[in-house]
Amino acid sequence: MSVPRYTDLDAVHAHVWEDFETAAEDPGHPYRQLTFATVYDETPDLRTVVLRAADADARALQFHSDRRSRKVEALRKNDRIAWHVWDTESLEQVRLYGAATVHLDDDVAAALWASQSPGSLSVYPRPTAPGTPIEGPEDGLRPDVATDPVTEEDVASGRQYFAAIRTVIDRVEWLHLHPDGHYRARFDYGADEVEATWVVP
Ligand SMILES: Cc1cc2nc3c(=O)[nH]c(=O)nc-3n(C[C@H](O)[C@H](O)[C@H](O)COP(=O)(O)O)c2cc1C
Repeated sequence: MSVPRYTDLDAVHAHVWEDFETAAEDPGHPYRQLTFATVYDETPDLRTVVLRAADADARALQFHSDRRSRKVEALRKNDRIAWHVWDTESLEQVRLYGAATVHLDDDVAAALWASQSPGSLSVYPRPTAPGTPIEGPEDGLRPDVATDPVTEEDVASGRQYFAAIRTVIDRVEWLHLHPDGHYRARFDYGADEVEATWVVP
């Protein structure tokens, strides 16, 4: 399969956001499972999360998480975040930088909860907080969400632990390891405009 070559900054920018918007709808897209970075006590932290919503116009990406998790605690102290993805087929690495907001019981959280299948919410009815030490290798779930298929009723008690994390991006770093050569571009979002430039890889 030939790898497309991008020579226009606007085209790169549109293409990157189109990929995120597609991934939020398509579980098979390479950008569906992303690395999400936070800072806690001046220490970087990384984990994989599933992209659940993307909005190019708002430059926003969303995922969901347990509100008792360490990442949520980190975001309360420092809202700066980064995303990373490496697509082994298109040979693109994308890094996004921005700020996050944690949504618990507002419209953003309600909309994300309502848009999700019960299966994707089945990790939330955990009586004990994620990260709590336990005696053995237990998943900590209540038995009714371990059955198949999981229903809305089964997961309803997890709503109290659910959080939507919304990130708004202010910088995009794109790197393409194209067979013809390596190409890199950077997009900085000012108040009204995007400052776009090619940079040395
Ligand atoms: C493929 C994959 C997808 C995951 N998706 C999510 C997710 O959407 N939300 C989430 O909170 N954790 C997700 N996790 C678990 C996180 O990587 C992490 O282990 C967990 O959230 C605890 O992170 P924390 O201690 O930094 O809060 C996923 C893990 C994997 C491997």
